[in-house]
Amino acid sequence: MKPDLSVSLGSLRVKNPVMSASGTFGYGLEFSPFFDISRLGAIVVKGLSLEPSKGNPPGRIVETASGMLNAIGLQNIGVERFVADVVPRLEDAGATYVANIYGRTPEEYEEVARRVSSIRSLAAIEVNASCPNVKEGGMAFGATPEGVSRLTARVRQSTDKPVWVKLSPNVSDIGTIASAAAGAGADAVSLINTLVGMAVDHRTRRPKLSNVTGGLSGPAIKPVALRMVWEVCRRVSIPVIGIGGIQTAADALEFLLVGASAVQVGTANFRNPMACIEILEGIEAFLREERLTGISEYRGTLSR
Ligand SMILES: Cc1cc2nc3c(=O)[nH]c(=O)nc-3n(C[C@H](O)[C@H](O)[C@H](O)COP(=O)(O)O)c2cc1C
Repeated sequence: MKPDLSVSLGSLRVKNPVMSASGTFGYGLEFSPFFDISRLGAIVVKGLSLEPSKGNPPGRIVETASGMLNAIGLQNIGVERFVADVVPRLEDAGATYVANIYGRTPEEYEEVARRVSSIRSLAAIEVNASCPNVKEGGMAFGATPEGVSRLTARVRQSTDKPVWVKLSPNVSDIGTIASAAAGAGADAVSLINTLVGMAVDHRTRRPKLSNVTGGLSGPAIKPVALRMVWEVCRRVSIPVIGIGGIQTAADALEFLLVGASAVQVGTANFRNPMACIEILEGIEAFLREERLTGISEYRGTLSR
């Protein structure tokens, strides 16, 4: 029997728990030459802001041991072009997609949320309360429970779509921050965004990133992400979406085991454009091997 891969994220049911993480999968269409993008649980698009943005000047990316640092600075086409040019193509492709949104002020977040809310085919809004690479907004709102609570409430009252709040790992108590998002009406939390790091060149004596600091992602951050997801799953009753260093089906299953309802795959897409599909197929093969009827029989079953 084919195992049931579908999962519920509050009111939203998706066909499987494998999603692409924002900023690592373009607007989804870029991956159409590699596989049928409608097979994914969801595509989370690159962070959208009210106006188009060029992001930070180069260098914006540095490879590190088992990962990478990025300081893209939320380069994007802006919400208007997304609605006009990208949405019809995502609809044609039959993709389930989520708008990751960003603003410099809570008012801007609200405005972007309002604009994307009118898109009928949009599955959910993911609020980036955690970008470390911009001077205003992003992590500034995600660093305290009060900031997260205010931002979540603001987006919540401006849309009927499910609201996911994406959390920063650059905090001392992730559980309290997640509780604040849940208390303010988030339908789910997604974590983690990148960890703040830096790289310097010992010969030129200069930083390698124009922004000096950047966000660390990839396999190097997986143990931190797994611990935070485990902690948050024990603190909140809303669904948790696990992100951080997932490269294989086994990695994804570890996040489901500690209680995540779904996962997002980020940096792995740069190394292997088929990563999401291989992970999806690997999860299905594992459930068959274990003779499990579906994800729900496995999720959150960590024993100690
Ligand atoms: C180049 C790059 C761009 C990113 N852009 C965004 C973004 O626009 N919005 C967002 O919420 N997260 C963004 N992220 C964070 C990822 O979605 C993800 O949370 C993080 O990279 C950890 O997952 P990973 O280790 O699988 O990459 C970006 C990450 C990378 C590497």
